[in-house]
Order: sequence, then C-alpha cells, then structure tokens
Amino acid sequence: MNLKNDLFLRACRKEFIERTPVWLMRQAGRYMKEYRELREKAGSFKNFYKNVDLSVKASILPKQILDIDAIIIFSDILTPLESIGMKFEFKEGEGPVFENPIKSIDDLNRLKPFNVQDVSYVGEIIKGVNQTLSREIPVIGFAGAPFTLAAYMIEGKGSREFKKTKTFMYNHPDTFKELLDKISDMLIEYLNFQIQSGADAVQIFDSWAGHLSPKDYKEFALPPIIKIIKNLKRDYQPVIHFTKGVCGFIDFISESEADVYSVDWMIDIKDAKSKLYPKAAVQGNLDPVVLYAEKEAIKKEVEHILNSWGKDSGHIFNLGHGLMPDMDVEKVKYLVDIVKDISSKIRS
Ligand code: CP3
Repeated sequence: MNLKNDLFLRACRKEFIERTPVWLMRQAGRYMKEYRELREKAGSFKNFYKNVDLSVKASILPKQILDIDAIIIFSDILTPLESIGMKFEFKEGEGPVFENPIKSIDDLNRLKPFNVQDVSYVGEIIKGVNQTLSREIPVIGFAGAPFTLAAYMIEGKGSREFKKTKTFMYNHPDTFKELLDKISDMLIEYLNFQIQSGADAVQIFDSWAGHLSPKDYKEFALPPIIKIIKNLKRDYQPVIHFTKGVCGFIDFISESEADVYSVDWMIDIKDAKSKLYPKAAVQGNLDPVVLYAEKEAIKKEVEHILNSWGKDSGHIFNLGHGLMPDMDVEKVKYLVDIVKDISSKIRS
C-alpha cells in the first residue's frame, strides 16, 4: 500500500485516526479556475476525461489547492456506457443527453458486450495520479450504480420524476432486472480493472435510487450492488456505497456489505451512526448548500457533524452530494481546514 497519508483508509477500516479524514464529492470541478483552464484546453468534457494527461492534472488539483486526504479520479459515471453502444454528449447547462436512449426490449438486445479496453484511459489516469503524487494519499476509483446508469440509459438525460425508467420497470420487471444484471457484470469488470490499476478504494454512486420506494429499492436497486461488491477482487481496498436518499433504506442498506456508507444530509449523522456503525464506516454528510453561507454558519454545521460523531474512528468527512460550479474556492478550502482543526481537537 505504501502511502504517506493513509488516514482515509484507516477511517474506512475503523482503525485509530488522529483526526477525521476529508475529501469532497465533485472536488475536481468547475468551481476552480485551474479546472476551467484545463477544460478549455480539452474543448469538451468528453475530450477532457479521455485525455490522460489533462485528467491526471484535474484529479490532483484538489490535493494541491485544498489539501484533501483522498483523490477521486477525474472521470464520469457514464464513461463505460460508450463501450456498450450508448451514444451521449454533455450539453452545456443541461448535463448528459443520449442520442439513443433505450425504449424497448429490442433496444436492450442491441447493446454490445463491454470491452474494458475501451476505457483503458481510466486505468492510465489512476496510474498517472499515483505516479505524480508519489503515493502521498489514496486514490479512489468509482462507478455509477446499476439503477442510476439504467435510469440514464432509459430517460436519455437527467430527470425529476423518472417516468420512463419506472414505467419500464413496472411494465417489464424481469427485463429491467436483466438490464441491471448486464450493467452489474460490466461494473464488476470495470471496478476490478480500476483496482488492478492501483485504486486504493472504489465508490459506487447511486445518485437516483432515492426516487424508489423501499420495496422497489430492495427488489431492483440493491441486489445488483450486492452482486458487484461480492465480486470485487481486492486485498485491502474498501468499497464505499453512496445512495442519495439513503434514509428511506437505512435499516437494510448494509445488506450490500460495503465497508463505508456515504450518506446525505436528510439523515442526522448520529442516526446514521447508530444504524450503520460499527458494522461499517460512515462518510458524509454536510449539505453542500451550506457552503453558500457565511463562514460562521459553515463552522457551526461542521461542528454539529463532528461532535455528533464523537471520538470514534469510522467517519470520513464529506458532503451529502457534490460541490457546485458556482461555489467559492476560498470557502471550500475553509471547510477542509476547519474539519481538520476541529476533529483534531475532539480527539486530543
Ligand atoms: O468527484 C469528482 O470530482 C470526480 C469526478 C466526477 C464527475 N462526475 C465529474 C464531472 C464524479 C465522481 C462524477 C459522478 C457523476 N456524474 C454522478 C454521480 C454523482 C452525483 O453527482 O450524483 C452523476 C449523476 C454524473 C452525471 C453527470 N456528469 C452530470 C449530471 C453532469 C452534469 C453536471 C453539470 O452540472 O453540468 C456531468 C458532467 C460532469 N461530471 C462534470 C464534472 C466535473 C462537469 C463537466 C464540465 O462541463 O466541465
């Protein structure tokens, strides 16, 4: 493993930590001027994440500017979908839009088998980050969860109600499960490839499963995640399971057997702790919107989270969802600094 700072991994394993490790979802993003410069060089977001050199540079910006305790590689959850024949673009102000969303069972049958060679650049990015940072901090690989990816493939873009996805799910439950299973097999290969390439941890992002009822979550979204985690080949690398809207599923989410659950702000960290810890570690859970408020207010919210967790290990500080493009870097830096400062004092 050989890391200079392994605080994040120790917290994932619930081993002794002298302070709470911190990293932030979407930490490499447009709120940084250095990111916008790299993005300009690349031209489009897709050219950006396929360019190893620029993506390594983007991945390490949060280490250089914020001094966080773990790097998440710069990429996207949709990256592997091109390999199975899904065509999409990232439209300015709109997000991803698919040219050929899945409308019928026939469309499903037309999907190509996944070829991990098509995403070899992701492995190169992981290696590049490890080389550039000389193993200073751990590198987190990631993938979208099957339900979230299936929803993108069926809706063709972001959605508020997920009408198409859910209609497909209710009308053709068995076919929908087949789709989820196909995506799971792809993700097992994809995440194992990231681990082999040097990822120290992997996070599964289920950004949209919170739109399901607990019954449907249990029936459709959770089984593929159980299957993925069971089939990851790892010696020490923890798995982080992030579900936006996890509070509805908190009583049974740990059936996925992840090492860490990343929780949003709709549940108090104390309640998340009492439900999940010490079986697993917990990551979270500041409402990102707090970062628009004054520093005093930010500090108060951070204190609440850190004090509610207390002195135990097993907590990784993060947001409940990603940073936003119009956030102020200075406040983000302030957040990272006070998490380190306050959590050291709590443990001293
Ligand atoms: O956290 C990080 O810094 C690592 C990189 C990362 C990105 N996307 C970069 C990105 C990660 C982990 C993701 C995950 C992702 N992508 C998720 C799951 C997490 C979540 O937010 O719920 C989802 C749902 C996506 C899909 C996606 N990609 C959307 C909806 C968008 C548009 C967002 C927007 O505000 O325009 C993207 C594009 C994207 N992914 C950007 C970045 C930095 C912006 C690209 C740009 O225009 O420069």
